[in-house]
Amino acid sequence: FYLDIDASETDKGVYPYYMLKEVDEQAIVARTLSQYYFDDNGQVINIDQSIIDRIKQADRLYIVAAGTSYHAGLVGKRYFEQWTGKPTEVHISSEFAYDQPLLSKKPFFIFLSQSGETADSREVLDNVVKQGYPSLTMANVLNSTLTREADFALPLLAGPEIAVASTKAYTAQVIVEAILAHAIGDSGLDLKHELAKVAVEMQVITDQKDQFKVIAEDALHDRHSAFYIGRGLDAAVAVESALKLKEISYVQTEGFAAGELKHGTISLIEDGTPVFALLTQSKTAGLVRGEISQVAARGANTIVIASQSLAKPGDAYLLPDVNELLMPLLAVIPTQLIAYYATLDRGLDVDRPRNLAKSVTVQ
Ligand code: G6P
Repeated sequence: FYLDIDASETDKGVYPYYMLKEVDEQAIVARTLSQYYFDDNGQVINIDQSIIDRIKQADRLYIVAAGTSYHAGLVGKRYFEQWTGKPTEVHISSEFAYDQPLLSKKPFFIFLSQSGETADSREVLDNVVKQGYPSLTMANVLNSTLTREADFALPLLAGPEIAVASTKAYTAQVIVEAILAHAIGDSGLDLKHELAKVAVEMQVITDQKDQFKVIAEDALHDRHSAFYIGRGLDAAVAVESALKLKEISYVQTEGFAAGELKHGTISLIEDGTPVFALLTQSKTAGLVRGEISQVAARGANTIVIASQSLAKPGDAYLLPDVNELLMPLLAVIPTQLIAYYATLDRGLDVDRPRNLAKSVTVQ
């Protein structure tokens, strides 16, 4: 079921790289998911009541994933905890598979995966099935192993993702997590309407890609290391942003919770070190401003990506405002494009970074 993207359309078309095409497709994916998962009145459809019932019976949710999908889980945790009231843990599959943590009495497992074939995640699902626990997979590749072997599945409908660096599958995962949490609990939002706004603003951001080319070239040309910082949901986006930049441009990049700077990383700041700060959460904006000043005082080149309502003069890019909990869906896009342009600037193959595979089917 691909509403607007022709599934057979795996051609790059006018795009030099799949990654750029896939970044641009995120607005379409948001609209597609809205159409698939909501009826005209904004009620959730296509999520079987049995999924909702099983999750309601659980006392704790366990999200299990690898790589970018794991990072989508870090964002989704917020939706599940805030909207359903269920404690939610997010685990790296390669850790969980061989060191299973102590579980609650009634766990429910959610697997996130673009490919549905990641070996470590499959290993966890095997163990979970053997122990008799219920599971749900959100995968982009329909009929993949993780989809078939879990009790339930929800499609991500992002269309084929070819570039090794995952972009639209990440945003699709975040959206489907939000819709599921909204269906189980109460987000207090007209989520269909909010996601429509997100789709419009995603398009606004991708239409301004030239700005990210300038930012990437200015900040990262000739640089060997960089940092992404943020708090709360921005910390979750910061780790994904750092992964995106390092995996394709080979700039050693660390993404972390801004409050941790003072416990070590700040010693790495030198003259001109690029520090990208994400600032979309009002509760912690003042604290992150403080951290930005601290690294700037030590010579860092600070590049602030802030939501319009929290912006200050000198910020590098202003994100359109949508509901704060949904800001990760917008904040990640500039970071995808910064990674893309930094990689182009280095003359590297954006779609096929060295040593990496699109789907890791070995443990
Ligand atoms: C590989 C890919 C990543 C992806 C990860 C998890 O490392 O290069 O982009 O995030 O696997 O893959 P999955 O298909 O399970 O999401």
